[in-house]
Amino acid sequence: MSRRFDEKKLVVASHNKGKVKEIKELLEPFGVEVLSSEELNLSEPVEDGDTFIANAEIKAKSATDESGYVSLADDSGLVVPSLGGAPGIHSARYAYNPWKEERDFNYAMGKLNLEIGDRDRKAYFTCALSLAWPDGHVETFEGRVHGSLVWPTRGDKGFGYDPMFVADGYEETFGEMEPEAKHAISHRAVAFKKLIDACFRQ
Ligand code: IMP
Repeated sequence: MSRRFDEKKLVVASHNKGKVKEIKELLEPFGVEVLSSEELNLSEPVEDGDTFIANAEIKAKSATDESGYVSLADDSGLVVPSLGGAPGIHSARYAYNPWKEERDFNYAMGKLNLEIGDRDRKAYFTCALSLAWPDGHVETFEGRVHGSLVWPTRGDKGFGYDPMFVADGYEETFGEMEPEAKHAISHRAVAFKKLIDACFRQ
């Protein structure tokens, strides 16, 4: 039995404004006031876990320890089993283009396509969500969406590796799908549904 969230305020352990806004909207129906780690000036912990779950827990626990409020954190990425799980927890770092000295997903997708070569093109996006309480209790949920990687990339909607990813049973890449369609089936949507059902719904 999961622990229910029955506080008034929650910290979203992220400095990403888009992510904070999305989570705020999701939790609005439950009367939760969402604060961000940026608003509270919280530090960003070193994400040195070996898994998405470990990293989500590190971020949630750190925000809770610093703020004293229950905190929610997520960690996500793209996993290619035929590449031993790469880029995996390093999905963001994998996109660093040393020539441009910045993150560049066209560069990342090209590099990934070359690495896959003739290997199996199956891949999945995964999202771990952790909710941490001040007494040390943590609830964590994981969502995945399975599919395959195409080349050339298609579409300019979404972000990150979206233009390369086609979910099983679909024709369009995540980069071609309308945001609402992607959000209905994404790894983040699956993880959020588990979190809401377990910790927020009456
Ligand atoms: P983070 O958990 O927000 O730091 O995301 C890690 C990285 O995973 C992002 O920088 C993206 O490269 C990738 N990623 C996570 N979710 C998605 C998605 O829905 N579409 C495309 N790329 C994603």
